[in-house]
Amino acid sequence: MAKKALKQFNETVKFLKKQYKETPTVGIVLGSGLGNFINEIAIEKEVPYEDIPNFPVSTVEGHKGKLIFGKLSGKTVVAMAGRFHFYEGYSAQDVVFPVRVMKLLGVETLLLSNAAGGVNTDYKVGDIMIIKDHISQFTPNPLIGKNIAEFGPRFPDMSEPYKRHLIQKAKAIALVHNFDVKEGVYLAVTGPTFETRAEYKMIHVLGADVVGMSTVQECIVASHAGMEVFAMSVVTDVGIREEDNIITHEEVLEAAKLAEPKLATIFKELVAAI
Ligand code: HPA
Repeated sequence: MAKKALKQFNETVKFLKKQYKETPTVGIVLGSGLGNFINEIAIEKEVPYEDIPNFPVSTVEGHKGKLIFGKLSGKTVVAMAGRFHFYEGYSAQDVVFPVRVMKLLGVETLLLSNAAGGVNTDYKVGDIMIIKDHISQFTPNPLIGKNIAEFGPRFPDMSEPYKRHLIQKAKAIALVHNFDVKEGVYLAVTGPTFETRAEYKMIHVLGADVVGMSTVQECIVASHAGMEVFAMSVVTDVGIREEDNIITHEEVLEAAKLAEPKLATIFKELVAAI
């Protein structure tokens, strides 16, 4: 699909502002198997993606495909139940379209979640990891093309894509609740294939702790537009192992569901603290 012009963003934002009058300051994107988090939100308005002008429509199993407006921990939030992935055939610009719409709606802080494969050999299925940095080089950069200066600069700084002050707050929350949380590097791949054994090894050597098929393109445009990003992965499989290396989407969804309460606690309390 062609690169979206600012006009299209404005059309979408105008439509959504008619649907919901308040200004969301926090945006939330829920990953595979993590969609139940919407139950934590006091929902005031739901808008199916197919009703929103210029929005792509999600196809992958485990994604519900609607934009949710409401209250969470005293804040006005907008949440995507179901995100768009590059592997579905969307352009990188389409994948990030909703994040830019969130920016124009007033969102200042973006919380992202995802299911990811563990490549750090200390990680187990069900672990949760705060993303402290990412490697984006295996996926197309969504800012390639004419820069939309209304969003941000041509050459954005990426020295702190995941804000340290949010990471510190999240770690403090995990400590209070007495659960272990990892902190590491997320490497993005396009998918839809899971990695070969050799690829998991390569990703490990490159310094990543987990690998997944989302999040990084969203983080890039959010950073570009000056939003503060916080992101967490649920380790749904451990890719880096010699035996039993078969990974299925069902296994990923199941493991994500089991770890979801921990992630929900962090998201809820983090939103209260910002
Ligand atoms: N690789 C890539 N993406 C993933 C994985 C994986 O092992 N698990 C969940 N999403």
